[in-house]
Amino acid sequence: MPDDAVASAVRIENRGDVALILIDNPPVNASSQAVRKGLVTAIEAANKDAAVAAIVIACEGRTFVAGADIREFGKPPLPPALPDVLTIVEASGKPVVAAVHGTALGGGFELALACHARVLDPGAIVGLPEVKLGLIPGAGGTQRLPRLIGVRAAIDLAASGRQVKADEALALGIADSLAAGDLRDSAIALARSLVGRPIRRLSELAPSPFDRAEIDAALAGIAQKSRGQASPLVAARTVLLAAELPFAEGMARERAAFIECLQSDQSKAMRYVFMAEREAPRAPQLEGIAPRKVERVGIIGAGTMGAGIAVAFTDGGFSVIVVETSEAAVEAGRKRIAAPWDRQLKSGRLTASQHEARSASVAVGSDFAALAACDLVVEAAFEDMDVKKDIFARLGAIAKPGAVLATNTSYLDVGIIAQASGRPGDVIGLHFFSPANVMRLVEVVEAPASAKDAVATGVAVAKKLGKIAVVCGVCDGFIGNRILAHWRPIVDMMVEDGAAPQGVDGALEEFGFAMGPYAVGDLAGLDIGWARRKRLAPTLNPNVRYASTIADELCALGRFGQKTGAGWYSYSGGKKALDPLVSGLIDKVRAQKHREQRVFSNDTIQRLVRAAIVNEGAKVLSDGIARRALDIDVVLISGYGYPAWRGGPMFEADALGLGRILADIEEAHAFAGAGYEPAPLIVSLARADRRFADLAPGEAAGGQ
Ligand code: 3HC
Repeated sequence: MPDDAVASAVRIENRGDVALILIDNPPVNASSQAVRKGLVTAIEAANKDAAVAAIVIACEGRTFVAGADIREFGKPPLPPALPDVLTIVEASGKPVVAAVHGTALGGGFELALACHARVLDPGAIVGLPEVKLGLIPGAGGTQRLPRLIGVRAAIDLAASGRQVKADEALALGIADSLAAGDLRDSAIALARSLVGRPIRRLSELAPSPFDRAEIDAALAGIAQKSRGQASPLVAARTVLLAAELPFAEGMARERAAFIECLQSDQSKAMRYVFMAEREAPRAPQLEGIAPRKVERVGIIGAGTMGAGIAVAFTDGGFSVIVVETSEAAVEAGRKRIAAPWDRQLKSGRLTASQHEARSASVAVGSDFAALAACDLVVEAAFEDMDVKKDIFARLGAIAKPGAVLATNTSYLDVGIIAQASGRPGDVIGLHFFSPANVMRLVEVVEAPASAKDAVATGVAVAKKLGKIAVVCGVCDGFIGNRILAHWRPIVDMMVEDGAAPQGVDGALEEFGFAMGPYAVGDLAGLDIGWARRKRLAPTLNPNVRYASTIADELCALGRFGQKTGAGWYSYSGGKKALDPLVSGLIDKVRAQKHREQRVFSNDTIQRLVRAAIVNEGAKVLSDGIARRALDIDVVLISGYGYPAWRGGPMFEADALGLGRILADIEEAHAFAGAGYEPAPLIVSLARADRRFADLAPGEAAGGQ
């Protein structure tokens, strides 16, 4: 490592008798090797300099150190190691104060904990997100934090990876103070005030006493909540060691556990997901394309979806106009849009003035012509082609030139909707997921005639909303719903052939999904799928097994899920319970269809579902609907609850080997019949011993 790289990453500016150590390693000041080396040099220099009485560590740019450098993971270690650097920082004979702005995460937060005091900018955030990368804190976080805030609170932070805002950090005792004015001035003043006083090194403190039974209950809760992910429990147990072992021994155990996690398949998968989420919006076909400018956004429809989209755009800082068809719908829409902000006001997540500002940024009315002033219009009306064609014909006539016109359809052909507008170059799909103000995924649908800069606008807008954009082509259901529509019938076939819905839910929750498909169906509303099945009934392929008879009969009884108090489960008093009516109905359908009954192990359910997902994913790639396998992984994880610690279906298939997945796909085909034939892409990749990740963007489509 050249000296000038170290010197540019860390420098010292003396402010009177205080040495201000400045870290400057864009974009997020990750503690890369140059930063680690530079910190050691700077601390040693400041300690040797007789003119320096105290030290402040601060960062240039948008944030304090946001963590260890993820790009260094998986490569041979580069000295000095971060824990050793932090030992040197903490051992400083002169007081060291951290001046924290932006996000002090992971190794960055651990650097702040190695300092002798911390001043936070009021907008700063701290946290230990290592578990989200399948890791645990590896530079003293598990040993210093419990000595500062107690074992229980430290377990909460290390096992959840949650971000802590400055005011909570102050209340927990993480921050010594919040900067009232300039952050660096406040930190320099605090550093001076510490001169001549005993230095408070967290490694020398003992954690305060705690209730062991409470900790055991917390550990049990973490194990259950992690759904197969290992690192949260490892993080919690390592924090607990702070109460049982001397600091140095605790540090050695932390290091060993960190390295074990780092080498685990789960961490490899989660680090891939971190990078894939950032790569997904960079669709290769949009390289160098500038998005159009968007300030004012129109939304058509204020139902559940439209209201959620309106909230998302308003929260994202856009000025929003929502158009409904009647005064009654306008009134109901206003209430729906205000509801999440009202809840946030009540819980303290929004101040009264923020609440007022949000409400003032969105206008709800019934004048369609008001949309003429918008730079982007998102249609979230009823899912019906004629309704959408009519809306886009009107929209095409009044929207200002250059406005991007987006449909939030989940399944319908965006190309046909675009043609109805008379200006198809301006039309894209923006497929939000419900609740749109919460879910992070947006599929940006590129129709055949969509202008590249209209698509780039969809991506840029999604980023501004804090969402992950995945660009995809037009097909029935785009990436996510197409794959869902493919694998979902397999479990219905299993239920017809002997599995119980709750057994399927249990198996897939064990696999790592947040909820099984039957519980999800009840939550989302069974009527939506029923309506779609009725719409598609005339086009059903008679050779493909139809396995939705039980779902159809449930719907015919008015059992649409949670909203009607009953679906696959019953919900009397809001509590999910098994319902004998459902098992009776299943028995009846099984008998009517003369289905031979068999036992489905959890392993069979999990393997066949994964096989169906990967198989359709390969077809999505071959059809050019997704250009890269990572797009499919990001959609499945962020939109459909595929466990992130598996890396997504395509990554997992690569990791397990496509030969093995192909055997599962053949088993799924033998079970489910027509429609489940192995994708030619998988067969050819497995034969050539290649992986999805080896494919260049678009190669799968071009090569088939
Ligand atoms: N290492 C290397 N690169 C990083 C990084 C890190 N820790 N964190 C972010 N980056 C990169 C991103 O890959 C991205 O690069 P790109 O532009 O080339 O794609 C760039 O920085 C900007 O990141 P975002 O797009 O995510 O920017 P945001 O402003 O949306 O978010 C952030 C900033 C909140 C800091 C977010 O990037 C983040 O959460 N980063 C990860 C933080 C983290 O997990 N830290 C812990 C690391 S593990 C650790 O510290 C182990 C220790 O205990 C030993």
